[in-house]
Amino acid sequence: MTDRLIVLISGRGSNLQAIQAACVSGQIPAQIAGVISNRPEAAGLAIARRAGLPTQVVDHRSFASREDFEAALDEAIATWPSDWIVLAGFMRAFTPGFVDRHRGRLVNIHPSLLPAFTGLHTHSRALRAGVCWHGATVHFVTAELDGGPIIAQAAVPVDPEDDEARLADKVLAAEHRLYPLALAWLCRGALELEGDRVHWRQSPPPQERSLLAMIPEDGTCTVQR
Ligand code: GRF
Repeated sequence: MTDRLIVLISGRGSNLQAIQAACVSGQIPAQIAGVISNRPEAAGLAIARRAGLPTQVVDHRSFASREDFEAALDEAIATWPSDWIVLAGFMRAFTPGFVDRHRGRLVNIHPSLLPAFTGLHTHSRALRAGVCWHGATVHFVTAELDGGPIIAQAAVPVDPEDDEARLADKVLAAEHRLYPLALAWLCRGALELEGDRVHWRQSPPPQERSLLAMIPEDGTCTVQR
């Protein structure tokens, strides 16, 4: 039996597209059971529909409280049997109650090398801080925003000519490699959340767990250790 993913989005949906491609190619031994957006205008919904995936919109603006929104989100999630809830650019913070209900099967990708630069505007903050390395992190979701145990990271070098847009492109290309890898391990049962740590049931593939993503001018992303 292959695992079933529910992907939560708010916008563009490029990670959703990368995950769907990896499910279709067999890199991730899973299928996407459904896609939920909290924004009806999210471009990622069209990506999902084109791929023939079922979609739902749970618009957070229609609810009086965060709890009410999350109750509706729970209902939408329960529509499809699922093993993993995959946040891919889902721009709403959860209450501790929601996180507890889905603890251990809720994962996120964040566009920085956590624990640096939690929250928003990570690329401009990284540039302002003058870091030499930036990147992306896949982690389990806990009640602490962007604070959950780390599953995998991809680093990109910050070049002198990088501006925010260029750096964002490099990190996004790395995300599209990293998220499918991390989800493949999850779906193969290589790891689990145990307390507040990642417990590796199979030894982590170190050559994959920390990616060094080099993105040359032509935009193709090659990854090396
Ligand atoms: C990504 O940079 C992801 O790390 C962040 O939101 C962005 C979503 O991009 N959480 P997309 O919608 O997958 O294109």
